Amino acid sequence: TLYKEKNRPQFHFTTQRGWINDPNGLIFYEGEYHLFYQHNPYERDWENMHWGHAVSKDLIHWQQLPEALYPDHLGTMFSGSAVIDYDNTAGYNKGNTPAMIAFFTAASPEKQVQGMAYSLDKGRTWTKYDKNPLIDSKAKWNSQDTRDPKVFWYAPSKHWVMVLNERDGHSIYTSKNLKDWTYESHVTGFWECPDLFELAIDGNKNNTKWVMYGASGTYMLGKFDGKVFTPESGKYYYTTGSIYAAQTFANIPASDGRRIQIGWGRIQQPGMPFNGMMLLPTELTLRTTKDGPRLFNVPVNETGQLFTPVKEWSNLTSGDANSKMKEFYDSDRLRIKTTIKLSHATDAGFNLFGQRIIGYDMNGNLLNGMFYSPQDMTSMELSADIYVDRTSIEVFIDGGAYSYSMERKPDENNREGFHFWGNNIEVKKLEVYSVKSIW
Ligand code: FRU
Repeated sequence: TLYKEKNRPQFHFTTQRGWINDPNGLIFYEGEYHLFYQHNPYERDWENMHWGHAVSKDLIHWQQLPEALYPDHLGTMFSGSAVIDYDNTAGYNKGNTPAMIAFFTAASPEKQVQGMAYSLDKGRTWTKYDKNPLIDSKAKWNSQDTRDPKVFWYAPSKHWVMVLNERDGHSIYTSKNLKDWTYESHVTGFWECPDLFELAIDGNKNNTKWVMYGASGTYMLGKFDGKVFTPESGKYYYTTGSIYAAQTFANIPASDGRRIQIGWGRIQQPGMPFNGMMLLPTELTLRTTKDGPRLFNVPVNETGQLFTPVKEWSNLTSGDANSKMKEFYDSDRLRIKTTIKLSHATDAGFNLFGQRIIGYDMNGNLLNGMFYSPQDMTSMELSADIYVDRTSIEVFIDGGAYSYSMERKPDENNREGFHFWGNNIEVKKLEVYSVKSIW
């Protein structure tokens, strides 16, 4: 597609027309990454939820396909996930072709129930299970909020696991055939769009933790025995801001082994025939920090193909850095990597036309208003990898220890352009990259 609209993001997925929110059914299969997503094909506002569909060979360039799931007698199609049924547990496989099976919430004004559908042609066309719903738990929870099934295979017990948002947290269900589900347990303190997966600490496969997360970028680490998730940590943020309802990919080959995530960018696209966007695909890892293991989040390696180094400087005063950045004022997209060193300042940061991209209050341990405590307090340095597209900004701090995203909203009356601020700060490193368009 050759998009020509003024506000079309240039290196993020957007749909041709209509509203999008959560990514759904993220799965890799036969060389393709599938991105299904909450889609209102008819309007720029949230309503009439369908599952839209796009595919990619590299997580960067996407081809939009026809809608995958349409509303039915049980309701509109809310968020969910997908698996490949290699062992034919549900009985839909044909010859050597395993079924791709999607789990979704059918939402009606009365209640939200869970359903499934299968595809034998790489997600292009879908048949719904004739005995949907699989789970109807409104009465049990006395709640309308029973949704967003995330299903995966738990090899040690040879059963399927479904994590489902129910009222005030995430429930675990299990099944042998993907059709009959048994309730097992519940953990409170999460809201919408669950995910649950095992990650190696510092890449060591013999030392793992399970990560449970919800829609707003919070997570807990713990143990999982196939039926019960037992938290072993507090609840932390690994990312904040415009991101919501992120999900990780299923069926990534073991030879790759990454935990790859895409999140919805809750970002308005003014005057455009589409609304909302997906943020950059990122890789999640668990690393040891001074506070224990924590989730790190950085853009996937595949994003590298988008960037060409343009300029690089070291050890600048903020005044020098500001004048070097003048030539980039009018860029519609850029990547900027920088390290700032505070010495006299307890407050420092980086603005773009008055919009605060980085605002670090070292004294209060606050980064753009959220608690952030760097690993190395003695160096007094903060590094940031900043991705600016036409309508969004994503910031990855200190190698992904923390990240956040925001709408790009320059203050029209502020002509200060790129602007480093803070008493006597040093811009230790400043790199600028141009960014290719994916369309
Ligand atoms: C999260 C969410 C989900 C729901 C979907 C509906 O953004 O509210 O809980 O399934 O959006 O579009």
